[in-house]
Amino acid sequence: MSPPGVKSLSVSSGFLLIGVLLVNTVSGYSLRHCKIYQMNVICRQNALQTIPKDIPPKVKSLDVSNNNISKIEEFDFKDRIIRKLLDLSNNKITHVEDRAFLSLAVLHGLDLGYNKLTTISDHMFQGLAKMKRLQLNDNLISHIAWSSFQNLSSLQIVNLTNNKIHHLKEVQPIVRLPFLQELYISNNNLTYFESMEISNRSIQLRVLDLSWNPLEKFSLTADVLPNLHNLNLSYCGRNGSMKWDVVDKSFLSGIYTLDLSGNQTSLKDMGIVLQSFTNSSLGSLTLSCLDRKTSVHIDVFINISSHITTLSVLRLKRDNIYFIPDKLFQSCSQPKKLDLSDNNISDLSNSSFRSLRNLQNLRMCHNNLSSVPTAVRNLTTLNVLDLSYNRINELDCSDFANLSGLIKLILYHNQISQLKGCVFQYLKILKVLEIEDNRILILNDAFKIYLPNLETLKLNGNKLSSINKGDFKSLQSLTSLNLNDNQITSMEDGAFIGLANLTFLHLAGNKITSGAIRDNVFKGLSNLRRLSISSNRITYKQDSKLTNPPFYSLSFLKSLDIFSQRPAGMHNLPSNLLDGLTALVSIRAGNINIKSLHPDTFKYTPNLRSLDISSNIFTTLTPELFHPLPNLSAIYLSKCKFQSLDFLIQANLSKVFYLQISHNELTVINDTLMHSLPSLTYLDMNNNSFRCDCSNVWFIQWVINNNQTQVVNAHQYLCKYPLNEKGSFLLDIDIHSCSGDLSFFYFISTSALVLLTLLGSFMYHLLRWQMVYAYYLFLAYLYDTKRRNARAANQYDAFVSYNTHDEPWVLGELLLELEGQQGWRLCLHHRDFQPGKPIIENITDAIYGSRKTICVISRRYLESEWCSREIQVASFRLFDEQKDVLILLFLEEIPDQQLSPYHRMRKLLKRRTYLSWPRAGEHTGAFWQKLRVALETGVCDDEENPILTGVERL
Ligand SMILES: *[C@@H]1O[C@H](CO)[C@@H](O)[C@H](O)[C@H]1NC(C)=O
Ligand SMILES: *[C@@H]1O[C@H](CO)[C@@H](O)[C@H](O)[C@H]1NC(C)=O
Ligand SMILES: *[C@@H]1O[C@H](CO)[C@@H](O)[C@H](O)[C@H]1NC(C)=O
Ligand SMILES: *[C@@H]1O[C@H](CO)[C@@H](O)[C@H](O)[C@H]1NC(C)=O
Ligand SMILES: *[C@@H]1O[C@H](CO)[C@@H](O)[C@H](O)[C@H]1NC(C)=O
Repeated sequence: MSPPGVKSLSVSSGFLLIGVLLVNTVSGYSLRHCKIYQMNVICRQNALQTIPKDIPPKVKSLDVSNNNISKIEEFDFKDRIIRKLLDLSNNKITHVEDRAFLSLAVLHGLDLGYNKLTTISDHMFQGLAKMKRLQLNDNLISHIAWSSFQNLSSLQIVNLTNNKIHHLKEVQPIVRLPFLQELYISNNNLTYFESMEISNRSIQLRVLDLSWNPLEKFSLTADVLPNLHNLNLSYCGRNGSMKWDVVDKSFLSGIYTLDLSGNQTSLKDMGIVLQSFTNSSLGSLTLSCLDRKTSVHIDVFINISSHITTLSVLRLKRDNIYFIPDKLFQSCSQPKKLDLSDNNISDLSNSSFRSLRNLQNLRMCHNNLSSVPTAVRNLTTLNVLDLSYNRINELDCSDFANLSGLIKLILYHNQISQLKGCVFQYLKILKVLEIEDNRILILNDAFKIYLPNLETLKLNGNKLSSINKGDFKSLQSLTSLNLNDNQITSMEDGAFIGLANLTFLHLAGNKITSGAIRDNVFKGLSNLRRLSISSNRITYKQDSKLTNPPFYSLSFLKSLDIFSQRPAGMHNLPSNLLDGLTALVSIRAGNINIKSLHPDTFKYTPNLRSLDISSNIFTTLTPELFHPLPNLSAIYLSKCKFQSLDFLIQANLSKVFYLQISHNELTVINDTLMHSLPSLTYLDMNNNSFRCDCSNVWFIQWVINNNQTQVVNAHQYLCKYPLNEKGSFLLDIDIHSCSGDLSFFYFISTSALVLLTLLGSFMYHLLRWQMVYAYYLFLAYLYDTKRRNARAANQYDAFVSYNTHDEPWVLGELLLELEGQQGWRLCLHHRDFQPGKPIIENITDAIYGSRKTICVISRRYLESEWCSREIQVASFRLFDEQKDVLILLFLEEIPDQQLSPYHRMRKLLKRRTYLSWPRAGEHTGAFWQKLRVALETGVCDDEENPILTGVERL
């Protein structure tokens, strides 16, 4: 039985819920113009004209670069929190309103580079108290207001490169900042550097970049830059006209890195400039791009620098040096690092570097060398030798003689065509060999005896056509071998033998066929973690199982790339191709021209997390394919021909959080699909054939409202069907006008509400008491449920329900007999009800807290509202708990006709015996005895339960 009150209550709460859903259009996770990835919001390249409004209030970074924003308005960032970086670069910003960044108190970095700002105004940066890094490069800034940097007390780095600052005093507000470390004002229009103009007291600056300014004078008359560590004066001064005026050498004594590239001073002055550093701690000197005339005399500078005893890095790049004579570095023994890149050096004297007794790092890339210079021999201190981008065509066995300290040898982009077996014989501790982009045809024995410590070998971009057994057998420490982009067609069994520690093997971009990756080829690679054989020629004519799966021995492999097989794809992926790859986490098998996958394909790879089979010609897949993959979390299925994703529903993808399914032919997305992906947070469905009518209403609402899954670029999804909607945006279609089911729902629910109201008032008038009863019955029911859970033991033997007018008899007779003589514990409302508790709760408490309920019935009792309610609650308990708790005790004779208004009572009386006080007359003993028996009656002994029947008929 469900009382009407209950029904109307649940219906109206239903209305309430729907109301909340309709009103609550708080935007979900999918943004109109941006993507979110790990709380970084990316809105690049969207032709935006204003800052998007729908980004979440708290993010890590916001990238709005490369748009068309021309102005930052005061409230653009109001109530936003950006913790790391705000990137506004590459827009057309001419103006930032005062206090626009006021809310961004925790921001660390602001990039305003590549805009059109001309002035930094007083209140522009107000609020950026935690900002450490500010990029203002590539604007048109010529003026910086005096108090504009006032509160940026955390600022450490400011980049003003490529602006229009004409006077150094413009940067005074910046250099005054207590923590400023680095200031870049390269390529402005500064004509003077005067210490007095920058500050009148010493400042903290460590890095100062003044390069590419037309400086006429560099003047240091006070010790304002005591911490300066790195000074860049390259390409300063027009046509060698810069005047150098450093009053005291000690002002520059802290400088470690100095760049004097370009012919900023005359030759004579250059000598003076370098003189100022002879007592300094200068460690790194760059003298690049001195013009041809000066380079003839470069030895002059070298001689001067040789007096700087602390010098350890010397860079002479792009100096037009073509020959290095003996004497050039003659007096120069300190440098540990010498960079001669980008010259025209084709020849050097055999003893050019002899005096460089500490040389560790020699860079001669981008020169004209045709062989490894003899001058490098015997440099036992050398760690790194870079000879890339030369014309070396042959390596000789004595080329690296005595380079026993060499750790890294860089030879890429030369013209080497073969390697002799003895060529690396001296390189005992070499760890890195980069010899890519040469013309090597065969390896000979180069890696069969030597290089026991080699860890990285880059041989990509050569012309190797085969790998023979044991080609790398001496490389026992090798961890990474790159053979990409050769012409390899065949690999002998045991080709990689000896590479027990190899973790990365790159074989992409060769001509490897399925025949070349037979079962024994990868044998011995017991530690391999990553294998790439993408862009080769692996093809399987038939779908049949392989007798010897090629990867069987790679039980530690985590990542396998086999995508893009040429010329026409793999055609079939044998069902046991992946056999043996028990540790595999990621496979990329896109673009291999396969139509289907056997359900057993991934049976061998239970640890797979990321599966990329995009750009194939599936139209569907079988759900069983995914069943062996309980940890699958990212799936890439774009550019296939899927029209439906129903196969995913049965696939048990409970851990998938990333699904990319762009460029397919999906038309309708339903709730069953999305509910089958409970962990999904990132969904890309760009470029599908969406149907823009009622069939997608659910999807549209879900995209807009769900707070878990970001549907990337959802606002740009286009309609394909129906034809009249083609080209409109999916999320723009009007779901109110189309959603018939929704309006029908409204119709039904409104009608139901009206009907209920009518019915309610009707019933209130005609059946008021029945409703009141029902209400209490309902309360009792609720209470009872609560009670049953609590299973409270009975506190009383009986609850006595009586009318106040009968109180004298109850207290004088009943209480005395039952409590005094028979020893029952009774519950009486005037005595035992808890004050303050609602009366109906007290009644139900009393009835449920007592084994029995004694109703003392008189005419007054029947008239009283509360008393009849007590009967009802008690009879409900009977109905509900199957417990006969009611004892009827008539205090006066009430004729049947007088009972007729109380028809429930009449029914009760017809079906059960009751006690009558008047009939007892003088024989009260028998009366009390009957009552005792009634009170002693057990709980479950009533077979026939008359009251139960009575209640049921109510
Ligand atoms: C300063 O901006 C220029 C671009 O104008 C850039 O090349 C340089 O790397 C920037 N420097 C720093 C330290 O950010
Ligand atoms: C640099 O300043 C000079 C004045 O010293 C001015 O004539 C010249 O136009 C300025 N150059 C630029 C590019 O603003
Ligand atoms: C160096 O100065 C000469 C004139 O002395 C000039 O022709 C040349 O362009 C300058 N080179 C550089 C890199 O500034
Ligand atoms: C290297 O040392 C050997 C002797 O150990 C010597 O004969 C040879 O001339 C030296 N080569 C160079 C380039 O210094
Ligand atoms: C392989 O690597 C392990 C540690 O990664 C090292 O202990 C072992 O010596 C290496 N094996 C060889 C042959 O270098």
